[in-house]
Amino acid sequence: MGKGLDFRFDFSLVRESNLRSGEGMTAGQLGRALRRAEKGALAAARRHASGEIGFPDLPFMVKEVRRISRDAAKLRRRFTHMLVLGIGGSALGTKAVLEGVGGPGARKGLALTVADNVDPDGFFPLLRTHPMKSTAVVAISKSGGTAETNAQLSIAIDALKKANGRKWKDHLILVTDPEKGIFRRMAREESFRSFPVPPNVGGRFSVLSPVGLLPLAAAGVSTERLLAGARWMETAFRKRKPEENPVLFSAAVYSHYMLVNPKPVHVWLTYGQGLERMAEWWQQLWAESLGKKRPDGTPVGQTPARAVGVTDQHSQVQLYQDGPPDKVFTFIKWMKGSERGDVPRAGFAPEMAMLGGRPLRDLFDAEFDGTIGALWNAGRPIVRIEIGAGDEAHLGAFLHFWEWVTAVVGEIAGIDAFDQPGVEEGKRITRALMGEKESSVRREQFLRAMKGRASAEIRIRGDV
Ligand code: PA5
Repeated sequence: MGKGLDFRFDFSLVRESNLRSGEGMTAGQLGRALRRAEKGALAAARRHASGEIGFPDLPFMVKEVRRISRDAAKLRRRFTHMLVLGIGGSALGTKAVLEGVGGPGARKGLALTVADNVDPDGFFPLLRTHPMKSTAVVAISKSGGTAETNAQLSIAIDALKKANGRKWKDHLILVTDPEKGIFRRMAREESFRSFPVPPNVGGRFSVLSPVGLLPLAAAGVSTERLLAGARWMETAFRKRKPEENPVLFSAAVYSHYMLVNPKPVHVWLTYGQGLERMAEWWQQLWAESLGKKRPDGTPVGQTPARAVGVTDQHSQVQLYQDGPPDKVFTFIKWMKGSERGDVPRAGFAPEMAMLGGRPLRDLFDAEFDGTIGALWNAGRPIVRIEIGAGDEAHLGAFLHFWEWVTAVVGEIAGIDAFDQPGVEEGKRITRALMGEKESSVRREQFLRAMKGRASAEIRIRGDV
């Protein structure tokens, strides 16, 4: 296990000796930050040992993953397509891994689509273009109480009934809490096939549970290798001393730039096909886990922003270089991409001749290094991460790495990285506005407050 895995974490550009701006960490600050990270990891480990948090167990669920692989193989024989309905943590991890291994079609399996929006202009056409006679619909909601996924499910059930008549139930699978919630009740009452999400694993930490494993296995992704990579990272985290431990070192650095020298924004610049969706997954993990109030009411958190190299060098990097020094940067790339194509030797204007006759990748890599150089010159703190390859084992390790970093930073910050009271409040208001019976008082209060606000609306209409 772990054969062929390779990660490079470079923290040199957060060290004071390398940053001329006064933004770097001194040796003393780094030492203190590493001690805080160690303590944070111990606190998280205690919560894990008590059964309160369950994500560290997921990589070790070997029997479960085998069962899921067998079920997925049956699904592959029976269907051509899989449509996942879900949102947030029930969707983003699957999208990240699917894109990370090369996108739909990169593995032999069902054509997998994840629908994580209820915009009617997107959802209805998506259903219409799916061959519902050969589509398996997987509705994923840990709580079972998310309005978006419930609405999607009932529309999808209609479509399945129209296409498959009495056999429509054979096309439906629910992934949800093993005991509670609307989806679990539906699974029991209607005898739908279902998969359980461990009760102590929340949405954004659940990609290595049936939430991500079932659809990914059906799409032909090796979920065994995904878990093997995560296990390898778990072992590296458990066994290495802080100075050589990527999780603890990262937690030390990022918590420093969140709490000691606060940078309100954390930007990921990703260089490489397939890393964009990973950035979306991380964005939710970082925002929803760490954007919280401490018990004394003080807010903490860091706005996660995404940029795609090289495209966004021409849209965002000007701000990052010369704008407010309120950001910490993480540059991420694959060590080696897959394509090896060259740029033709001839046909360049003399000023561009240096581009000719060499791999296009040389330019891509130079853009990565050059942008780091530009931000370094501007004195910005930068972490650089390189991932050996876009395969299952590396992706599993990388996902698990960020889950641990987030958990440890949460402990250092003195907040609960595993709840999401803000999201729950939004869900409650939505249900109230949609007419939920028990929420009539909340609805009235909300509508009164909205009506009572001072108006600042401009609407312009016209003919041309
Ligand atoms: O991370 C979380 O807990 C949330 O983002 C949830 O994943 C999201 O709100 C969807 O919730 P559920 O899976 O309960 O439908």
